[in-house]
Amino acid sequence: MNEPVLKIENLTKTFTLGKRKIQPLSNLDLEVKRGEFTAIMGPSGSGKTTLLNLIGCMDKPTDGRIVIDNMDIARLPESQLCKIRRDKIGFIFQNFNLLPYLNARENVELAMELAGKFKEQRKQRAKDLLATVGLSGREQHRPQHLSQGEQQRVAIARALANDPVLILADEPTGNLDAANKQEIVKLLADLNQKQGATILIVTHDEKVAAHTRRMLFLKDGKIIDEKQGSKSSPS
Ligand SMILES: Nc1ncnc2c1ncn2[C@@H]1O[C@H](COP(=O)(O)OP(=O)(O)OP(=O)(O)O)[C@@H](O)[C@H]1O
Ligand SMILES: [Mg+2]
Repeated sequence: MNEPVLKIENLTKTFTLGKRKIQPLSNLDLEVKRGEFTAIMGPSGSGKTTLLNLIGCMDKPTDGRIVIDNMDIARLPESQLCKIRRDKIGFIFQNFNLLPYLNARENVELAMELAGKFKEQRKQRAKDLLATVGLSGREQHRPQHLSQGEQQRVAIARALANDPVLILADEPTGNLDAANKQEIVKLLADLNQKQGATILIVTHDEKVAAHTRRMLFLKDGKIIDEKQGSKSSPS
C-alpha cells in the first residue's frame, strides 16, 4: 500500500512559442502511492493537463525525473514510452475518445489487442470489464448509440483493460450532466476502493474532488497545497 507508483522530482516543462517561453511546471515534486485516489485542482492554464500528459508519456519533460513503477521515464526513447503508455497507464479523457466505428466491446478489446492479448481472452475480459462498469448488454452498441455517461463508462473499461498501475483522468466529468457526473465519480471511487485502482484525476469540480482521498492544488508551476479528501480512510 505504501509503495509509490509515481514519483516526480523537480519536474519542469517549458514550451517555446517563437520568442515566448511558457513554463507551466517548474520544479514540481509529487508522489502517488499504490491504491491512492488523488485529485489535482487548479486554475485554468495552471498546467494540470501538461502534468498528466508528462506522466502519461505523451510528452517529454524539459527537466526533472518521473518514475513510474520504478522506471524513470523522463529520458526514454519513444519506442519504450509507447510500451509504458500501453502497459502501465490507463487514460480517461473529457471527450471519451472512443473510436466511432467500433462498438463498446471492440473499443475495449482494441487496447488489449495492441498489447498482444489473444482474441478469446480479450473478448471475455472486455465483456467482464463492461459488466464492471455497469454496461452488460450494451457490448454491441457503437458510441453514437450510447449516452455520454455510458460512453465514459466504456472509456473507463478501456482504461482498465491492460490492468494499468496508474489511471489518469483529465476532467473525466467535464462533459457530463450533474447526474452522470455523480455516477462516473462514484464508479471511479468504487474502482479505487474495491479493486485498489490507483487514480489521478484532474477536475475543476469540488464535488468531484470530494470523492477522492487526497486533493492537490496546482499553481505557479507547483503543488501549493494538499488536503485530505472527505473519503479518506484510515487504511
Ligand atoms: N503544446 C503546447 N505548446 C505551447 N504551450 C502550451 C502547450 N500545451 C500547453 N501550453 C500552455 O501551458 C499552460 C498550461 O496549459 P494546460 O493545458 O496544462 O493547463 P490546464 O491547467 O490543463 O488548464 P485547463 O483547466 O484550462 O484545462 C497554458 O498556458 C497553455 O497555453
Ligand atoms: Mg486541462
